[in-house]
Amino acid sequence: MSFTIVEQTTARLNRSELAVPGSNPKFLEKAAQSDADVVFLDLEDAVAPDDKVQARKNVIDAINDLDWGDRTLSVRINGLDTHYMYRDVVDVLEQAGERLDVIMIPKVGTAADVYAVDMLVTQIETAMDRKKRIGFEMIIETALGMANVHEIAKASPRNESLHFGVADYAASTKARTTQIGGPNPDYIVLTDPDDNGGRETHWGDMWHYAIARMVVAARAAGLRPIDGPFGDFSDPDGYKAQASRAAVLGCEGKWAIHPSQVALANEMYSPSEKEVTKAKRILEAMEQAQKEGKGAVALDGRLIDIASIKQAEALVKQAEMISGS
Ligand code: GLV
Ligand code: MG
Repeated sequence: MSFTIVEQTTARLNRSELAVPGSNPKFLEKAAQSDADVVFLDLEDAVAPDDKVQARKNVIDAINDLDWGDRTLSVRINGLDTHYMYRDVVDVLEQAGERLDVIMIPKVGTAADVYAVDMLVTQIETAMDRKKRIGFEMIIETALGMANVHEIAKASPRNESLHFGVADYAASTKARTTQIGGPNPDYIVLTDPDDNGGRETHWGDMWHYAIARMVVAARAAGLRPIDGPFGDFSDPDGYKAQASRAAVLGCEGKWAIHPSQVALANEMYSPSEKEVTKAKRILEAMEQAQKEGKGAVALDGRLIDIASIKQAEALVKQAEMISGS
């Protein structure tokens, strides 16, 4: 272990994060009933400019009046480059009660963006005598944000998670796609010709670098990395494949831009019974090994060692959080 200890953020289930436009009170009501671990009430890109003021009122009413159970409740404010953002923060924190858990900051470009929102939130919390400290979720979705992702991750003790906003990221980097996430048939390699001159096409994942970079920055700062949207809500298999590949890299959850994606995310980001049983067996085997003064042993024909304890413990802890939810 390094002499630098990475403090872990507030532990929360974050397998599914449902996006709900603040402009639609019916959707807000439905979202309060959903099985999503986190719901974010959107004041940003799902809300047209003419609806911004009404959406803010709807969101404040929804926080105050609806029963959100024990799920995590978030509001996505507008970007710092708009004139909506300051009033999003002021009105929501002054007028909505203590139920709100986190604020989602979109298009974060630099650590100073987080500092600016922190300053505003801190003043309002103090002035209003708010008891619960608001956490921050930050969307990494611009080239600038990705370039500064490490500094952004460490910019405030309020920081809880980094989210990969694939649609804006594609726009910002001028990636050649107009879809919201998913693979691109032009991002391929051809195998060398075989004896008959035949060549296979292998699809790559054009988002691999971005997600992997964000995961490292998040984990190095003790935050949760979360994969963002997948726009084709009529393709559950495509969604599951995207969720699975992000989970393999270390993400803890994925956005749902449609209610039907919530169950898919919860499924893909919950460890299976088989994985949990295996993890518990690893812990037992390592406990026995340590009693015998050994650092490594074989389990089912494979080497396990002290690093395996940490992997297994993380998995068992996640399973416990899910069963307690
Ligand atoms: C999310 O905000 C995205 O741009 O993908
Ligand atoms: Mg975006």
